[in-house]
Amino acid sequence: MPVDPGVLDRVETARLLLLRPEESDREVLREMHRDDRVMATLGGTRSDAESDVLLDVFRAHWAAHHFGYWIVRDPASGRFVGRGGLRLLVVDGTPEIEVGYGLMSEFWGRGFATEIAEASVRAAFDVVGVRSLVCFTMPSNAKSRRVMEKAGFRYEKDFVHAQLPHRLCRLDAPG
Ligand SMILES: CC(C)(COP(=O)(O)OP(=O)(O)OC[C@H]1O[C@@H](n2cnc3c(N)ncnc32)[C@H](O)[C@@H]1OP(=O)(O)O)[C@@H](O)C(=O)NCCC(=O)NCCS
Repeated sequence: MPVDPGVLDRVETARLLLLRPEESDREVLREMHRDDRVMATLGGTRSDAESDVLLDVFRAHWAAHHFGYWIVRDPASGRFVGRGGLRLLVVDGTPEIEVGYGLMSEFWGRGFATEIAEASVRAAFDVVGVRSLVCFTMPSNAKSRRVMEKAGFRYEKDFVHAQLPHRLCRLDAPG
């Protein structure tokens, strides 16, 4: 699944701008990772050093595969909305491509996570050429479960991730 470099670096959705992470995104990501509300369902807050490592991981993923997690911004103001996109991961012992999303709390409840998930699905099937995607969350994260459902994912199994119970959902490419 070789992706042409640059094709996914900037994606516009109806209301959001999805951008390949830059060095200059370090501070916005730190801010998100310090936020108790946002991180409650993402394994807890992270130190700035841990956040910086994660940005490096996101950037290395892009450098290797030409897709990954985007930094999500409001196109009009440039404000940081959150992050999300596609990631290669070993899930329960199997290599998979995961759709993930997380938003600053002032942007919750407007359908933005669904918009990011749907853009991720389109990028995966139409550009990356992925045949099957996974998405997972803790069973208690009802909002995220609903986002998965709206983006077309269906329950596959329960499994343990980061020492916590998770619910895995899958979406196969059409045809
Ligand atoms: C979970 C999260 C991504 C949702 O983002 P969002 O932009 O508010 O999600 P959307 O608006 O696209 O969709 C949320 C859906 O959940 C529904 N919902 C809200 N609260 C709910 C609840 N308590 N129980 C069930 N559904 C709920 C909404 O009504 C909406 O569905 P609808 O469109 O059918 O009405 C966001 O809250 C977040 O970033 N949380 C912290 C990080 C996180 O948990 N990320 C996911 C990890 S897997």
